[in-house]
Amino acid sequence: MVSQSRHLNEKINIAIDGPAGAGKSTVARMVAKALSYVYVDTGAMYRAVTWVMLKSGISPEDEQQVLQTAQNLVIDLIPSEEGQKVLVDGKEVTREIRSLEVSSQVSRYAQIEGLRSLMVTLQRQMALRKGVVMDGRDIGTTVLPDAEVKVFMTADAAERARRRYLELKDTTNVSLEQLERDITERDRLDAGREISPLRQADDATLLDTTQMSIEEVAEAIVSMCRLYGMERSKG
Ligand code: DC
Repeated sequence: MVSQSRHLNEKINIAIDGPAGAGKSTVARMVAKALSYVYVDTGAMYRAVTWVMLKSGISPEDEQQVLQTAQNLVIDLIPSEEGQKVLVDGKEVTREIRSLEVSSQVSRYAQIEGLRSLMVTLQRQMALRKGVVMDGRDIGTTVLPDAEVKVFMTADAAERARRRYLELKDTTNVSLEQLERDITERDRLDAGREISPLRQADDATLLDTTQMSIEEVAEAIVSMCRLYGMERSKG
């Protein structure tokens, strides 16, 4: 278990970015739990929008229709004992948004500038009162450039595919090779897009987690927060 922090009297925001499958969401959830903070999975928001578009037959090329539809959606991220629940207009889609179909299409919708602005506005609102651990691709660079602690988490593509495989193997019959191909393709699209590409913020700490356990990574981030709190209390 990750140790609790005693040095964070005033709440801060924590930004965790990095490529697909680096383990960001697991780590972010553990950090949020250790600090009694709120976890916000921004990837789940892009996935929820993608799920709606695929279900409604709206292609990413039809940007106007995507925006019009997205503007009227209510996306809720609800913490629960079994992890975060995702609701769209009151319907739970937690499992549906992790499907291979959504995973393979989400980067195409996430490139749409207007959709990103909409998501960024919502994400900033969620972090206004501080005490948020937010993970995604552009949190440290765009969504919360003033986050007190910023981490860029990565691991090599084979290791990331292995981690995703362990997560998915009981519920889908996807192969490790397919996952590695998907992850490499998503890296390419996420890093290559014009608007808010996946990029390490200049003031983010790089954590290469290829050789680290998930607990070690979470502990390292909680330590950074503790250090930040100590520095701040020294004034
Ligand atoms: O973290 P994830 O794999 O669930 O994210 C799904 C997709 O959403 C990912 O391919 C890129 C996109 N995304 C994004 O563009 N910006 C974010 N802040 C979070 C996710």
